[in-house]
Amino acid sequence: MRNLIAGMKISLDGKTEGPEGMADWVEAWSEDYGLTPQIDACLLGGGMYPGYEGYWTGIRDEPDKPHWITGSPPTPAELEWARFAAKTPHYVLSKKLTSAAWPQTRFVRGLDEIATLKRQPGKDIYLLGGARTTASLIDAGLVDEIRLIVHPLIAGRGKALFAETERRRGLELRTAEPREGGRLLMIYGIG
Ligand SMILES: NC(=O)c1ccc[n+]([C@@H]2O[C@H](COP(=O)([O-])OP(=O)(O)OC[C@H]3O[C@@H](n4cnc5c(N)ncnc54)[C@H](OP(=O)(O)O)[C@@H]3O)[C@@H](O)[C@H]2O)c1
Repeated sequence: MRNLIAGMKISLDGKTEGPEGMADWVEAWSEDYGLTPQIDACLLGGGMYPGYEGYWTGIRDEPDKPHWITGSPPTPAELEWARFAAKTPHYVLSKKLTSAAWPQTRFVRGLDEIATLKRQPGKDIYLLGGARTTASLIDAGLVDEIRLIVHPLIAGRGKALFAETERRRGLELRTAEPREGGRLLMIYGIG
């Protein structure tokens, strides 16, 4: 069975974005959780898919241009993710979306299809977000591990990662690793 592993960048108070819909404390949206070597598919929610597709297409097509989200040119790690994402199947959980510009994108309409995907042969699957999708898949018992990069700030109002989580779950701490700039990577197994 393939593991489904969530990766999120959050504030200390558990926010994935501020009140304007942006996590402006995140300097780069690279895959910084050490997941790339062990995954061969990505899963994400329909809410974030259009912005995600546009962001990484922009970086791939114009690698020298400052991007509107971060205001800076992409980092080497972002360029690496743009290349990896372009050749990696992406599964989008949505009942509404029907078309995507990326040929490697497929839509999944319900949680049973995600359970089927986990049973197919392959490497692990990276759950990219957003908050609603991550919370609902944890509730459904489909997420095996969560990797959080906690940024050193209290964001205040904004979207909380676990705002809609309904069930209590024990976690197993696997790694706690300080990163540059006061960030902390925490890896938890989900029982
Ligand atoms: N800080 C971070 O690391 C991080 C990472 C990723 C994203 N983000 C941010 O998060 C925001 C998007 O998050 P979000 O929570 O608004 O949206 P989301 O999780 O990306 O997408 C929510 C949508 O996914 C579908 N969905 C979710 N759970 C479902 C279920 N159980 N069954 C069927 N469909 C389901 C529904 O789509 P339909 O309505 O189409 O059916 C729902 O409207 C973006 O602003 C993005 O920038 C932050």
